[in-house]
Amino acid sequence: MISKCMFPVAGYGTRFLPATKSMPKEMLPIVNKPLVQYGVEEAIEAGMTTCAMVTGRGKRAITDHFDISYELEHQISGTSKEGYLDSIRNVLDKGIFTMVRQREMKGLGHAILTGETLIGSEPFGVVLSDDLCINEGPGVLAQMAELYNQFRCSIVAIMEVPMEEVHKYGVIAGESLKDGIYRVDKMVEKPSADEAPSNLAIIGRYILTPDIFDIIRETPPGANGEVQITDALQIQADRGCVMAYKFKGRRFDCGSVPGFVEATNHMYENHYLKES
Ligand code: G1P
Repeated sequence: MISKCMFPVAGYGTRFLPATKSMPKEMLPIVNKPLVQYGVEEAIEAGMTTCAMVTGRGKRAITDHFDISYELEHQISGTSKEGYLDSIRNVLDKGIFTMVRQREMKGLGHAILTGETLIGSEPFGVVLSDDLCINEGPGVLAQMAELYNQFRCSIVAIMEVPMEEVHKYGVIAGESLKDGIYRVDKMVEKPSADEAPSNLAIIGRYILTPDIFDIIRETPPGANGEVQITDALQIQADRGCVMAYKFKGRRFDCGSVPGFVEATNHMYENHYLKES
């Protein structure tokens, strides 16, 4: 069973400036819950109760969010407002939160290597909280954890995107094994439409086997001059051990303003209004 999930949360959130000048982008709320909490709830649902946060300067609000606020507990306890704390209390009851700071922004691969100390030598999940994923049945990470038990390989979540959007993603190609499962042979980070091996784009959910850390150490900077997890995964794919999985559910790109607004409207209409 996979018990740890890594959250690389050190990025700047440039596209949301000035909102993200002094507030982490992962704390931007979709309705009344910060983005990162959705990812943490998805990990906990998948049994990954140790949440390893790779944070950075200016991200202290994330650490505080996953801790008790005594003043708030004191003020609100026994009042009609107590219910507003239910979801975060639930997360704090079930989760363990560990943190390390990434001092320099050298790419997602570098962020994941920075988190090695929080993971050790076991398979682990990775959530990029910009990608908000929802599903009526099991969440995306829970679906992937089940698949891991079958293949014991690294797994990336994928979805089809229009060819004119492949340049925003890591893109895979591989042999289709059965419904929505591929054995990956090629992975390219941020390809042009001409270079892309397919239109199957990686979205921000991974299960990685721990040999990835040694591979990242040897991975030179790639696209944008950054150490890319996609390039490190290509080495595992060459060994036949990366699967790609077309997940069940819907993904919102909350790293972009339109995707963020779409997620907000969806969660407001389909969850907030129905639950309150
Ligand atoms: C990262 C990954 C990319 C993946 C994307 C999913 O890119 O490097 O392979 O497709 O997340 O959101 P970023 O969006 O951080 O540039």
